[in-house]
Amino acid sequence: MSQKDSSDDNVQFEQTLRPHLLKDYIGQEEVKKNLCIFIDATKKREESLEHILIHGPPGLGKTTLAHIVAREMGVNIKVTSGPALEKQGDIASIITNLRDKDILFIDEIHRLKPVVEEVLYSAMEDYCLDLIIGKGPAARTMRLKLPRFTLIGATTKMSMLSSPLRDRFGSLIHLNFYDADSIREIIERSAKILDCKIDGNAAAVLAKCSRQTPRIANRLLRRVRDFADYYGKTVIDTGIVETALKALGVDELGLDNVDREILNTIILKFKGGPVGLNTIAASISEEENTVEDIYEPFLLKLGFLERTPRGRQVTSRAYEHMGLKCNF
Ligand code: ADE
Repeated sequence: MSQKDSSDDNVQFEQTLRPHLLKDYIGQEEVKKNLCIFIDATKKREESLEHILIHGPPGLGKTTLAHIVAREMGVNIKVTSGPALEKQGDIASIITNLRDKDILFIDEIHRLKPVVEEVLYSAMEDYCLDLIIGKGPAARTMRLKLPRFTLIGATTKMSMLSSPLRDRFGSLIHLNFYDADSIREIIERSAKILDCKIDGNAAAVLAKCSRQTPRIANRLLRRVRDFADYYGKTVIDTGIVETALKALGVDELGLDNVDREILNTIILKFKGGPVGLNTIAASISEEENTVEDIYEPFLLKLGFLERTPRGRQVTSRAYEHMGLKCNF
């Protein structure tokens, strides 16, 4: 199983480790400071929070933050996603069932269908829905008043959001990859919740291999805990972390077999690129979206990959990491 696969098991595991309040959320200091101010000020005015758009690579905590905002505001949250909303009626029935100040969280908001997105415009701006009743010449429109809800949208692809939708959000939050210290702290916090002991060095080694991403750090911690339990270790030390990472095919930068396959394919089959995303995906039998959304962001962040108008190109750093000779 790839370290980025999700399963019900993982979802449940993630949920128990998720912080519930801003004070327990590690890292992203600027984001927390701003959110704290927005929430405090809005509560003082007894208003509903303005709509928030959160963007950033997968696994950095967009959903977690939305739940935290709801809890800090003391309101209910309804969770859905762009692809799940097929018709205007789907979004209409969700919003009409909300109460004032409640939060509607739409994950992958860049994947909303245009007909659904259109309904959202007036819902977000004027808190009303224009419904068309009937068909043909007898059709009438009816304006429905909505509660003053807050929309929190999450996206990995800001550029795929239309500007009318983007412009209706009162605040834009960008989540960056975490620094190694924050990831180490997250691992230590998660270990406490899971009631397993990990020494400081082991947590630091694991943090370095977690692709600066809390979701991956927590997943690797769980796998390492399996190895510790299997070998009868009461404390996770660097030895057991290294054994587990080796067995899982995770290298010292956190790249797994699929990441390395992507780099190897571009280098060996396509002379380092440029090569189109669809060709890369087909060569390694993965979905184009998976390569683009899950694997690429961290390879770009490491400076191993570049996006050019003619496709993806690896850098000399990638050759070095893969132990291959670079001729440019
Ligand atoms: N678990 C996942 N993300 C976290 C974060 N940012 N802080 C604390 N625990 C987390």
